[in-house]
Amino acid sequence: MAMSGPAEGTAAEPGRTEPFYGAHQSGITSGTQGHTILAAFDLAADSDREDILALLQDWTSLAAALTTGGAVSIPALQTSSPERADVVEDSPRTDSLEADGLGPQRLTLAVGFGRSFFRSADGSGRFGLGMRLPPALVELPQFEGDALDRTQSDGDLLVHACADDLQVAFHALRSLDRVAPGIATLRWTQAGFSPGDGGGTPRNLLGFKDGTMNSNLHPPGDLEATLWAGPEGPAWMHGGTYLVYRRIRMKLESWDSLERGEQEQIIGRRKVDGAPLGQPDEFSPLDLSGLDAKGNWWIPPTSHVRVASPEVNDGALIVRRSFSYVNGTTSEDSSSGPSQALEYDAGSLFLGYQKDPRTSFVPIYSKLSLVDELRRFTTHTASAVFALPPGASGRGDWLGRRLFT
Ligand code: HEM
Repeated sequence: MAMSGPAEGTAAEPGRTEPFYGAHQSGITSGTQGHTILAAFDLAADSDREDILALLQDWTSLAAALTTGGAVSIPALQTSSPERADVVEDSPRTDSLEADGLGPQRLTLAVGFGRSFFRSADGSGRFGLGMRLPPALVELPQFEGDALDRTQSDGDLLVHACADDLQVAFHALRSLDRVAPGIATLRWTQAGFSPGDGGGTPRNLLGFKDGTMNSNLHPPGDLEATLWAGPEGPAWMHGGTYLVYRRIRMKLESWDSLERGEQEQIIGRRKVDGAPLGQPDEFSPLDLSGLDAKGNWWIPPTSHVRVASPEVNDGALIVRRSFSYVNGTTSEDSSSGPSQALEYDAGSLFLGYQKDPRTSFVPIYSKLSLVDELRRFTTHTASAVFALPPGASGRGDWLGRRLFT
């Protein structure tokens, strides 16, 4: 196993470090950092188990070193292919240094496996792992209103970096990418941002607090029951979780034209303080049967929080961790020519973690996609599901080890 670790250059700075080793991967229940980058990789068709093992070992030891804020030395990948060995041996081994002196910045790094890691589109197994595909690692159904860009969706492997500094997160991703030549190539990347968790629940681009209930900041009580995979699935996933990623574009121009009261009816919470309608403050419980003076439900029947809440979804829960994104501007209808007004391609990177998407994301979003009033202002444009194995327990252990042993 090629080890990496803090090398020459900057010593790790104290504080602002998120623990990397542990029973679960970091960046799931951690606080919300200011920046995120998601990157999906596809494995070369001629990669084999040894290549993938070496890659996961190197990613784990590199990630452990990067999260301490120290400089890293990029190890040579142990590849079974003579052609690739040349590429790998020739690559420079030193830290690229763009994060030099920036410190750990609460950097978290998580790694996940997509369905296509285990099986090809025709159902045949890959890398001898076809039978180890976890049943919970489902292909999502086509939901009402989906407009997915497949080039920005799915993937064999996920690397998810979060940090309070974008350059630190990007450096971490690039460092992992630099040990993957010929084995795994980037399929898509997506950057996002958040006001972070320093000033209370962060606001999304609709201007509402997002993360008050059932989120990484305010998780549900029993995470073993809702978040962490257990004995109901394969042993190698115990302590892991399943991530559903959705890039959700917001029609900000239309949203901005609504009165605040109309926006609040659509969400079901007050904009200024995040309180559920009819309740005094942000953390008051939702009162789904509460009536206003006219006898109408305070929280309207098709409002987002009512339709998403566990009370109306047979208790189905999801742990959310959301960031915003801005991918510039785009013309809604390019056939209309250059005079067509540009609109923002901006919205939310929805990250929903659960022990089984079949009983969490799928039923909740099946209903939301049909009923939620917010759907008039949002379009899902990218999607992926990844199995995030349990954390690495310490030096010498590596992410995904139990899948291969
Ligand atoms: C751009 C899209 C979305 C926006 C802007 C949005 C916004 C919000 C806001 C403002 C809240 C209330 C505050 C809070 O509890 O955090 C909320 C709650 C929630 N949302 Fe979303 N959301 C979006 C998409 C989704 C999707 C796709 C799901 C799918 C599962 C979802 C599930 C939930 C759940 C489960 C709650 C908590 C309900 C409760 O227990 O009170 N949201 N969302």
